[in-house]
Amino acid sequence: PDRTNVAIIGMGTVGAGVAQLLIDHGDRTARHAGKTIWLSKAVVRDLSKPRGIELPEGVLTDSIDDVLNDPEIDVVIQLMGGLSPAREVMLRAMEAGKDIVTANKALLAEHGAELFTRARELGRSIAFEAAVAGGIPIIANISQCLSANQIESLEGILNGTSNFIVSQMDEKGAGYDETVKRAQELGYAEADPAMDVDGTDAAQKLAILSHLAFGATVDWRDIPRQGIDGLDPADLVYARQLGYRIKLLATARLVDGELELSVAPTLVAIGTPMAEVRDAFNAIRVVGDAVGPVFYHGLGAGQMPTASAVVADVIDTAVGRTPITFETLEYFSAERPPRTAQRD
Ligand code: NDP
Ligand code: HSE
Repeated sequence: PDRTNVAIIGMGTVGAGVAQLLIDHGDRTARHAGKTIWLSKAVVRDLSKPRGIELPEGVLTDSIDDVLNDPEIDVVIQLMGGLSPAREVMLRAMEAGKDIVTANKALLAEHGAELFTRARELGRSIAFEAAVAGGIPIIANISQCLSANQIESLEGILNGTSNFIVSQMDEKGAGYDETVKRAQELGYAEADPAMDVDGTDAAQKLAILSHLAFGATVDWRDIPRQGIDGLDPADLVYARQLGYRIKLLATARLVDGELELSVAPTLVAIGTPMAEVRDAFNAIRVVGDAVGPVFYHGLGAGQMPTASAVVADVIDTAVGRTPITFETLEYFSAERPPRTAQRD
């Protein structure tokens, strides 16, 4: 067909950005997909809330069933956040024959195995580039562009809200509570900002990346983690006097074949690229055995950077080239096949 019909479930910060890109830049999406990508429905809880975007007549609804029962809708963009009913909605959508695009890392970290297994059984796809590091294409890079490598380590700033808070406190002397509130107003924070500041969100993202980079099935709860919620502003001052900034780093490293994982506020030397990552920016340093170190930097939270990743996934889904195939995931989940070099 020359048209793919999509529906957005959840028109908050990210959903409104996705709708804006789809409506205002249909020429771009059509050029890349080779067909029209058509926003058929957008689901919210509260129809009276202003969305900051003008939607065509009949698109906005408060009924998820309007999407799930519409056989014309091909792709469901799940941006409602939380675990339930998001999980049930994704399962029902796939059972109704729809592919999924989502930014919901909490759901994937918690129920990824079930959702991907069900997707495979049903022959459906789940694309999730926006789930880690917002606008940085780290999922595609790790699972595709660096696939010739054994990843040896990855470390990064994976939570934009925490980095925003620490940057504002460190550089502008801002207070903790007012900066958390500002991160919420700017659309960076989770519905429950405790998940940002206590290290949960970074640990969930690290679990997803570890699966793709190392083939490790990691329960994010098992990752030793500490957030920025316990930082004393004086810690930032002392660190600076010693030539460091404090960053919330998520780290995964292969040590003697074992994977070491952690999320913790960490001293990073001023002048190094990681120390200069400011505000809601994220950064990830990946070391592969062939490529060496690669550094990614970009906005990790916020409306349009996240929408950029979501819409790219929508285009890939529309043309049937979702970056993560089930074969890839299965390979990563299974025992690794024995290594055989060509010269053996
Ligand atoms: P918001 O809280 O801004 O938006 C959530 C939306 O979902 C709202 O429009 C809400 O409707 C709707 N919604 C919630 N529950 C239901 C329900 N039961 N039925 C119908 N609609 C519902 O979240 P964000 O846009 O910030 O985040 C969305 C997802 O993207 C989350 O999983 C988040 O973790 C992830 N994400 C967010 C990023 C960001 O920078 N904000 C970056 C990367 C990922 P209503 O408005 O009527 O209440
Ligand atoms: N709350 C998340 C963050 C959104 O601040 O990084 C992006 O995943």
